[in-house]
Amino acid sequence: MNLPPGFLDDLRTRTSLSQVVGRKVTWDARKSNAGKGDLWAPCPFHQEKTASFHVDDRKGFYYCFGCHAKGDAVTFVKETENVGFMEAVEILAREAGMPMPERDPVAEQKADRRAELGQVMEEAFKWFRLQLKTSAAAEARAYIAKRGLKEAAQDRWEVGFAPDQRQGLFAALTQKGIAADLIVEAGLCAKADDGSIYDRFRGRIIFPIRDGRGRAISLGGRALDPNARAKYLNGPETLLFDKGRSLFNHAPAREAAGKGQPLIVAEGYMDVIALVEAGFKSAVAPLGTAVTEDQLKLMWRIHDEPIIALDGDKAGIAAALRVVDLALPLLEAGHGLRFAVLPTGLDPDDLIRAHGAAAMQKVLDEAQPMVNLLWRRETEGRSFDSPERKAALDKTLRAAIARITDPSIRSHYGEAIKQLRLDLFGARARPNWQPQRKGRFVEVPQNALASTKGSLLANAPEHAEDIKVQAIILATLIVHPDLVHVFESDLERMDMAEPGNDAIRAILLSHLDAATVEARLQRAAPGALDALMSRPHVQSAPPVHNRTDRKLAQMCVAEDFARLAARRAARREIEDAVHDLSGIADEGLTWRLSKAAEARHRADHPPRADAAEMGEDRAAMSNHLQSLINSRVWEKKKR
Ligand code: UTP
Ligand code: MN
Repeated sequence: MNLPPGFLDDLRTRTSLSQVVGRKVTWDARKSNAGKGDLWAPCPFHQEKTASFHVDDRKGFYYCFGCHAKGDAVTFVKETENVGFMEAVEILAREAGMPMPERDPVAEQKADRRAELGQVMEEAFKWFRLQLKTSAAAEARAYIAKRGLKEAAQDRWEVGFAPDQRQGLFAALTQKGIAADLIVEAGLCAKADDGSIYDRFRGRIIFPIRDGRGRAISLGGRALDPNARAKYLNGPETLLFDKGRSLFNHAPAREAAGKGQPLIVAEGYMDVIALVEAGFKSAVAPLGTAVTEDQLKLMWRIHDEPIIALDGDKAGIAAALRVVDLALPLLEAGHGLRFAVLPTGLDPDDLIRAHGAAAMQKVLDEAQPMVNLLWRRETEGRSFDSPERKAALDKTLRAAIARITDPSIRSHYGEAIKQLRLDLFGARARPNWQPQRKGRFVEVPQNALASTKGSLLANAPEHAEDIKVQAIILATLIVHPDLVHVFESDLERMDMAEPGNDAIRAILLSHLDAATVEARLQRAAPGALDALMSRPHVQSAPPVHNRTDRKLAQMCVAEDFARLAARRAARREIEDAVHDLSGIADEGLTWRLSKAAEARHRADHPPRADAAEMGEDRAAMSNHLQSLINSRVWEKKKR
């Protein structure tokens, strides 16, 4: 969604930064001068006792003199609630009473219906909570107590009870004037063949499910009767509840991850509850289905490297491997998974109850990177005593790696697997290689290539090209700062070719408006700003001198980022290729290089370019490679 012009300015004027910040800090009364909008507090972003966190309420900015955290109300909400830019804007807009720009009438109607269903769901939660206090719930209370959930925890998780009645909830809700069709649509009740309506949840402990913003969306019920048809029953898919896109405990887990807790993915409700109660506050679970692609993406929005915690039994490993398969094509730089394997037959809830939080911590500390799981699947319990068997293993591993779309990650996986393979087949290990402990996973040197990165090609002509492109990107964003949020993550991740431009990037990322950005840059980084804006190729760049055409600017910046990314990928492929040449032959090498060349070509040349040029680019690439081979670059590197 695009925000209309002026919306952010308006939001900033209507938002009191001190109020937003004040919810998270305690002001230092002596140091602060509230009348002047000059407020000080211990910093919410780092541990401290003194008040080095400053809020300038009139300008709407904060700055910490200790950890240098800085920004405006939107940044503050983003950082403290661990949400994206748009979500932060929505939160602030809601508080400021500013309606968010609407999408379309159909969407609006749906939103209304959703709000109604959400209210019905809240009413149901309340009623289930009340039922847990009744005499009919004695058995349920005993069961919950037996599972170690204290009253306070029951409150936190809003645990409830559905009595074994055909129309308990239904009668209660209709008495409150709620229409029967809403109750059915919310998934709380169902219609029998004879048209009568009955409660879906009967004789069960109720676990409310809330979405990423804390809104009531559905519930899960655990049977008290061990012979019940299903141990757990979850609400059906509804307008509110999209199972594949929901996570149990989503919002609290996100907030805790924002404060530095690792994100743990468990299998069930009770596991999440046990984990959180034991202090592992960022825990989520899928809702009675296998983990989906959407859920993985949600998890990666919460944390770069979620830890999947699974039972150490066959089913648990099988579930983990399904996640591996799902994740392979989705991997990108900075996004990974780790796998914590629990002792056979125990889930996190069992483990914590039997051996305490420390035992769980130990399992988490030993979590394995994903590549080890992949390796384990193909090798465990098999023997590779013939060339045919070894070849078959190579083939399956290559097929798995080929599914990784990110070229850099793909080559790192190749490298890691190659190392595991050398190890298994008894070849001489590299010096930095830790010998494998028998029967255990091996730690893979994930940064095996890091030492060579950048060294080989840092001086290539491409470097000068990167400097140019980055300068145009920065200048364009200075002129069109409202585009910063669109390219926020690209901008954050850009490998700055000129360190002097880091200050410019930092100011851009604090989401200021046009007038303020230039003023701030003048104050904070006048030298870098002048150097940047005075370059001829920057001055003549259309999106820089055309200050009104936002569309053009957005298009140009998108293209430039794609160009940088493609060049970076091509560089890595060459580096990795050099590496491969020094090890076993890799038939995928030429393919990978041509892919990288194609990608770079596409980014460097607009779609009009004809096919002949493509050959030229590829030729340049193989020339480059050939010269590296001629100079026997890997031997030099080894010495
Ligand atoms: P488990 O069978 O491992 O149960 O199911 P659990 O979480 O250890 O439950 P307790 O400890 O016996 O209470 C794991 C998850 O799979 C889903 C639920 O989400 C559950 O939490 N599930 C399980 C169902 O949806 N239906 C079922 O019948 C069983
Ligand atoms: Mn369990």
